[in-house]
Amino acid sequence: MTSNVDSVLRTASSGSVSAMSIAQPPTNPPSPIAARKKDTGAGSWAVQAQNELSEEEFSSWRKLLEERTGIHLVPQQKTFLQSQLTIRVRELGNISFAEYFRSLHEGVGSVVEWSTLIDRLVIKETSFFRHQSTFDFLHNYINQRIADGQINASFDVWSVGCATGEEPYTLAMVLDECFTSAGLENYWGVTGMDISMPAQTFARQGIYSKRKLDMVPPHLRERHFSDYDQLRCQISSEMRERVCFTNGNVIELKRMPMVKMDIISCNNMLIYFRRWRRRKILNNLAERLKKGGILIIGLGEIVEWEHPLLQPVADDGVQAYICVK
Ligand SMILES: C[S@@+](CC[C@H](N)C(=O)[O-])C[C@H]1O[C@@H](n2cnc3c(N)ncnc32)[C@H](O)[C@@H]1O
Repeated sequence: MTSNVDSVLRTASSGSVSAMSIAQPPTNPPSPIAARKKDTGAGSWAVQAQNELSEEEFSSWRKLLEERTGIHLVPQQKTFLQSQLTIRVRELGNISFAEYFRSLHEGVGSVVEWSTLIDRLVIKETSFFRHQSTFDFLHNYINQRIADGQINASFDVWSVGCATGEEPYTLAMVLDECFTSAGLENYWGVTGMDISMPAQTFARQGIYSKRKLDMVPPHLRERHFSDYDQLRCQISSEMRERVCFTNGNVIELKRMPMVKMDIISCNNMLIYFRRWRRRKILNNLAERLKKGGILIIGLGEIVEWEHPLLQPVADDGVQAYICVK
């Protein structure tokens, strides 16, 4: 029997279906929802129905997303996934979900297309000084390290899952304050890493709506931002030079050359992963710290996790661990 998938793929590949190395998501019969007008090429317009994502298809997409990014979609997110996929397949000429699924597995364009899709699916919500007590804690921690004479060569900070850059730039403003007031001229730098490439491109430019600066204390706004246009500000070139952005996947950390970090900040990202994966990621991050370094995560993002190199910090306002060995 010829399945819907087969017929769709045949249509797309001019009659032939090659052997596929990937699981094929099943399709439902087209439903009239999300219908779209399509030019038939014969000068007339017809209504083409958009498939609804079936439970089986949802399961295939969830599996793919989790395998490649660690992000675990819950059943309630099916509508969100379907709407994002619908937007994307329409942009690509109203191809079917099955065809789109296949396109993410083969051909030179698959990597670029995957990157486009991921950017649509990840939650990039962030802000400057998002969790004030975290930055108060880090301010005190860095000052203490300086006072104890524990800053030797460089001071390196890693913001994992940094979205559009507000977190790494906040860390840079805190570091700048601590190092400048101590009169230290040691090298310090922040690396922001995220799976979304467009987010990294945005972050590198450092241009933000003025409304986003509400959480930045006035003296830091004054010191580090200037008007870009009527509605936007740009962070100073000094800060942009201190902060670099890299595209990376937290479930493939082996590829990241980040070691002996003084601060690793991983906030509001682990919540999208299953518990076992959160532990695995944190175990990996723990090994990237310098002795005396700090791992900081969003409050409550993991419970009952321990690591032989780390000790939890006794502070109710933050969830942080210090590397003691
Ligand atoms: C909600 S934002 C958090 C931003 C920032 N850390 C904060 O707390 O404001 C989560 C970020 O994690 C990123 N992310 C999700 N999965 C990722 C992965 N596997 N590797 C790297 N970054 C990932 C998303 O692209 C998104 O920008």
